[in-house]
Amino acid sequence: MSTPIVRSVAELRTRVAAWHKAGERVGLIPTMGALHEGHQELIRAAGRACARKVVTIFVNPRQFGPNEDFARYPRQEEADQIRAHDAGADLIFAPTVGEMYPDGYATSISVSGVSDGLCGAHRPGHFDGVATVVAKLLIQAGADEAFFGEKDYQQLQVVRRLVRDLDIPVRITGVPTVREADGLALSSRNVYLSAGQRALAPLLARTLNEMASRIAGGAPIAATLADGLAGLRGAGFDEVEYLEARDVVSLVPIETLSAPGRLLVAAKLGKTRLIDNVPVLPKAAP
Ligand code: PAJ
Repeated sequence: MSTPIVRSVAELRTRVAAWHKAGERVGLIPTMGALHEGHQELIRAAGRACARKVVTIFVNPRQFGPNEDFARYPRQEEADQIRAHDAGADLIFAPTVGEMYPDGYATSISVSGVSDGLCGAHRPGHFDGVATVVAKLLIQAGADEAFFGEKDYQQLQVVRRLVRDLDIPVRITGVPTVREADGLALSSRNVYLSAGQRALAPLLARTLNEMASRIAGGAPIAATLADGLAGLRGAGFDEVEYLEARDVVSLVPIETLSAPGRLLVAAKLGKTRLIDNVPVLPKAAP
């Protein structure tokens, strides 16, 4: 069994309008396809809050840099329809590039502050591309609630800011990261990893978790970050783009743990770029 696809904004709106007329709450799960258990968890989370679940599949050219993997990004629509169905999705919206960005398209959305630094510093224009497509998808679907993974933590904060700033009437819900048994965060890009790289990859999550418990136990943040960086480089990560401690909401860098923080990392194995993040919480007062 597989979930049906619509390709035009008009068809999407007709379907959503019928559900709303019947009094049903509609959830939206934006993706770029190549669906895995992480995406399916978003669909299931939507199912706990909404009668109807719409998955969007669109490999958005505007969020890829010129030397990134837009052309080779995995595209597997039939497998996605089955995975979407198994997780309970009612509809897939899979527009063409021409439907999303017709001739003459000229608008870009830029969210300052939370887009700066971290992935924003290493992928110029990336979050403008994300903010633009997410704003369009939210406006096109008119869903009641939209679901995003904590795996892409900075993206989640960009989306939250965007929705508040533009008064888009939708609730944004974050869903915890789904991981392999060895801790590696599920990602559509994990298929790029060789066997040797795949064996090394879980060190990212392990390093973050060790750092989080050291910092929560009172270790200084700067020294712990330096140790973590040295560990990743020493183990064979080709390039650690960043390893940082940030405030959970504003994403400003933190030097001491007075409020809930987040440790975030981006590192490359060969050409494949992996990202991950974990919470780090101050100890409750005795
Ligand atoms: P994509 O990478 O396909 O991810 C779609 C959604 O799935 C995002 O909200 C992402 O955070 C979530 N996700 C991915 N891996 C996850 C995991 N292991 N656990 C939990 N959630 C996970 O992110 C994008 O697409 C795009 O930037 C998009 C928002 C669709 C805009 O184009």
